[in-house]
Amino acid sequence: MKNSIILLLSVIFFMSCSNQKKETVVSSKLNKDSTFANVKDRAWWKEAVVYQIYPRSFKDSDGDGVGDLKGIISKLDYIKSLGIDIVWLNPIYGSPNADNGYDISDYESIMKEFGTMDDFNTLLKGMHDRGIKVVLDLVVNHCSDQHKWFTEARKSRDNPYRNYFHWWPAEKGKPAFRPGSFEVDGSGWRFDSLTNAYYLHYFSYKQPDLNWENPKVRQEIYGMMRRWFDKGIDGFRMDVIPVIAKDTTFPVITQKELDEKFRGDWFTYFASTPAVHTYLHEMNKEVLSKYDVMTLAEGAGTTKATAMNFVDPDRHELNMSYHFDGVGIGIEKGRYKVMNPNWSLLEFKTVYSDWDSVFANKGWGTIYLGNHDQPRMLSRWGNDAPEFREASSKMLTTFLLTMRGTPYYYNGDELGMTNAKFDKIEDYRDIEMMAEYGKVKNAGGDLKAFIESQKTGCARDNGRTPFQWDSSAHGGFTTGTPWIKVNDNHAYINAAAEDKDPASPLNYFRKMTALRKSSPVLIYGKYTLLDKENPQVYSYTRELDGKKILVMLNFSTKNATANTVIDLSKGKLLINNYATPYSGKELRPYEAVVYQY
Ligand code: GLC
Repeated sequence: MKNSIILLLSVIFFMSCSNQKKETVVSSKLNKDSTFANVKDRAWWKEAVVYQIYPRSFKDSDGDGVGDLKGIISKLDYIKSLGIDIVWLNPIYGSPNADNGYDISDYESIMKEFGTMDDFNTLLKGMHDRGIKVVLDLVVNHCSDQHKWFTEARKSRDNPYRNYFHWWPAEKGKPAFRPGSFEVDGSGWRFDSLTNAYYLHYFSYKQPDLNWENPKVRQEIYGMMRRWFDKGIDGFRMDVIPVIAKDTTFPVITQKELDEKFRGDWFTYFASTPAVHTYLHEMNKEVLSKYDVMTLAEGAGTTKATAMNFVDPDRHELNMSYHFDGVGIGIEKGRYKVMNPNWSLLEFKTVYSDWDSVFANKGWGTIYLGNHDQPRMLSRWGNDAPEFREASSKMLTTFLLTMRGTPYYYNGDELGMTNAKFDKIEDYRDIEMMAEYGKVKNAGGDLKAFIESQKTGCARDNGRTPFQWDSSAHGGFTTGTPWIKVNDNHAYINAAAEDKDPASPLNYFRKMTALRKSSPVLIYGKYTLLDKENPQVYSYTRELDGKKILVMLNFSTKNATANTVIDLSKGKLLINNYATPYSGKELRPYEAVVYQY
């Protein structure tokens, strides 16, 4: 009896200690400032600013022209100085690099050009020591054709790995059309003569799609995820995750049906079957729920009506998702990602306001204007002409850090880096660009005009040129020959120069991260669009517990008036992107003002 009482007491003692430990760990991740005291449903990933690093282009430490993990490690203090909380790294795993790491041949090793697992451990510790979390890319719609699963699978029809992929036996004839995004002929099927069958690849033929209907595939992936989490990473950004589920009877689709249902976005028709939620729910139960981590869906093909299904906390799937409606604005229909320079600010406001309303009561949104798949935000939504570059860069930073939803900020945007604007195809490296160029060529199109269109268009390499550290050769990115050209404007757009200049876009970004992180209103406050029909100015308020903030952003090259009817005479100016304060009357070109009132 005495023994069992002692045992019971020690169990209670142990439980209370471990709970306490859990409490402290969780609360230490949140801002303890009393201004946050009344906020409900807080989470560290809601209060964070995410900084995306494209490792290939960030910093090269060994002179081979490719960025690497040691390069990132050498810049940890710079990263910390930005005031960001989470770093998302694009794929760093073993890969033959057909699609810059989005074709993975080994999920549990580090890409040779990037370094070793020891380097990764050092990087993770270095980030954690500085209070920064690390999120990796999870690319599991497909792997590389060099992955052991695939090299085995293609050997014979009865190979144990055969069913890890989607096959169509050639004796059944040609399979029904499915899109292959990075193929010149646009086909998502590749004939493999060894076993007289076609395999499915929604991207390039070097990226065969994994068969999620096979429970063994799912278990392999969950095991791999657990091992990364056990190592201490803090989350995953999930590449094209809605695409993992598709109708594998592969029905024939007529052109008419395609036109009616395609809506210019193949993801919604050829992928995203309801099974995606069965898989994500299972992944949550078996892996995610066991760790304090964050998850982000690259919500390809999701709509305002379907996005909540991925992030509704009651459904136990993922935390956040990002949509493509924003980055789809101004893209001319039927032409490869050609931007209409006269994209409409009214549409921009509608898209971001409507998406805010999706998560107004539950779930949580994200906000971004650029990433490794997009042109530079400055060249696209701001203005990279010398007279407007700095103001518009800061204005866009203001937008990203004053909206509701976790901001995802792409490396180099804090410097106001601009599109590559390459003059010839030889300067491009991206597999998608090569395929599109091939399509124009095969169709006898105007190749010169195509290259020209991509200077302001969406060629992904526009956002992938090396980070501009200083004005030295190759922008201080490498001592060797960079894998892709460094933008010549590194002579004056670079971190070293901007660090010294208190009025630079870089220092403005630092001020904005500090402002957001100290403000529950900017993080959690209700968003209301004002002055909806104003074609030049985007104005909105954020509001929480009676505290109000007004944001006014001039998206044009001309002076403009914001018709907000808010009395600012007693307001406090929190930040302004011009050296002389806002007059209270007209906003100057690309002016951004944030008031508490
Ligand atoms: C995602 C990635 C992109 C990649 C594609 C295929 O959209 O962001 O870079 O090419 O998926 O993995």
